[in-house]
Amino acid sequence: MKNILVTGGAGFIGSAFVRYMVEKYPQYTIVVLDKLTYAGNLDNLLPVKDKPNYHFERGDIADAEAVERICQEHNIDAIVNFAAESHVDRSIMNPNAFLQTDVVGVYVLLEACRKLGIERFHHISTDEVYGSIDEGHFKEDDPLSPNNPYSASKAGGELMVRAYHVTHGLHTTITRGSNTFGPYHYPEKLIPFFVTEAIDDRPLPLYGDGTQVRDWLYVEDHCRGVDIVLHQGAPGEVYNLGGENEHQNIEITHRILDILGKPRSLIKHVEDRPGHDRRYAISNDKLRAHFNWSPDTPFETALEQTVRWYVENEWWWRKIKSGEYLEYYKKQYGERLANA
Ligand SMILES: NC(=O)c1ccc[n+]([C@@H]2O[C@H](COP(=O)([O-])OP(=O)(O)OC[C@H]3O[C@@H](n4cnc5c(N)ncnc54)[C@H](O)[C@@H]3O)[C@@H](O)[C@H]2O)c1
Repeated sequence: MKNILVTGGAGFIGSAFVRYMVEKYPQYTIVVLDKLTYAGNLDNLLPVKDKPNYHFERGDIADAEAVERICQEHNIDAIVNFAAESHVDRSIMNPNAFLQTDVVGVYVLLEACRKLGIERFHHISTDEVYGSIDEGHFKEDDPLSPNNPYSASKAGGELMVRAYHVTHGLHTTITRGSNTFGPYHYPEKLIPFFVTEAIDDRPLPLYGDGTQVRDWLYVEDHCRGVDIVLHQGAPGEVYNLGGENEHQNIEITHRILDILGKPRSLIKHVEDRPGHDRRYAISNDKLRAHFNWSPDTPFETALEQTVRWYVENEWWWRKIKSGEYLEYYKKQYGERLANA
């Protein structure tokens, strides 16, 4: 591997991966392909913008001609696909873009690999493809049972990856990560949304009773897991990347408020998300056994660092929270908050 195309590299996890890879592997060239949707942000890539082994290309992964041209121009020999529509609430409002990017886009990338003989395709998926589990932890060979248009699209993309491995012999790998958090996370997802709202003493609209359980993974641990699987994963295999760190949403909210020294009265229980999964939990046994990977950032430290990052980097998120963001906020929470 010399020239790696990182799709979705201007988003939250993709940009963390690019910053990590550019530093760790100066011998690789990292080319980012990103459509710069509402969630893509070149500010996330400012730390690497002048590095000689980093290049940026704006484009859509569902645009076959652009994908092939960029792969040829940069002599790409591996693709790591982070590009996705990634927000469950938006998938309930408008699923079309999810099918286009998370299913068709994945197919276009796979076709480019097949046609151009690109040696490696690593696909970033999510623990949400398994659906909800009351007790225990999902393992990689458990059936997929997605419950919302986002997770269904991600499952569809994954199945296409599997099919290209079996049918065309592509060297593919997949990681299914848990709920990831850290700096540069678009402020519509639970942690950055509540941190930035609480900084401004605004109400925190918590879905339902807030007892839904998520498994939280620090973004740096997620990137380290992807790096290991990209380099050492076996062809056709899927690996869970769990945080081993389950918390109810209400507990996360309390912790955020405590770190910021803000009152719990900011919490407003609002109408739940339809089809809201109760609990996500995955087992890390496979990755631990094969590559000795486990998440190693202590949760308290990681959450505290993350909250501090938002306190210290208002320049990054204040400009996001305007325009389209406010329209989305109004649609998603306006009525819910008014009825709370
Ligand atoms: N955030 C999480 O908790 C989490 C957990 C597990 C897995 N994942 C997966 O990780 C990946 C990255 O998630 P994220 O949270 O960084 O998402 P994000 O929404 O922050 O970033 C997505 C990026 O993809 C780009 N993009 C969207 N459509 C595109 C297209 N058609 N062509 C090219 N670029 C496009 C966007 O511009 C953006 O830069 C996704 O595949 C997601 O499903 C996320």
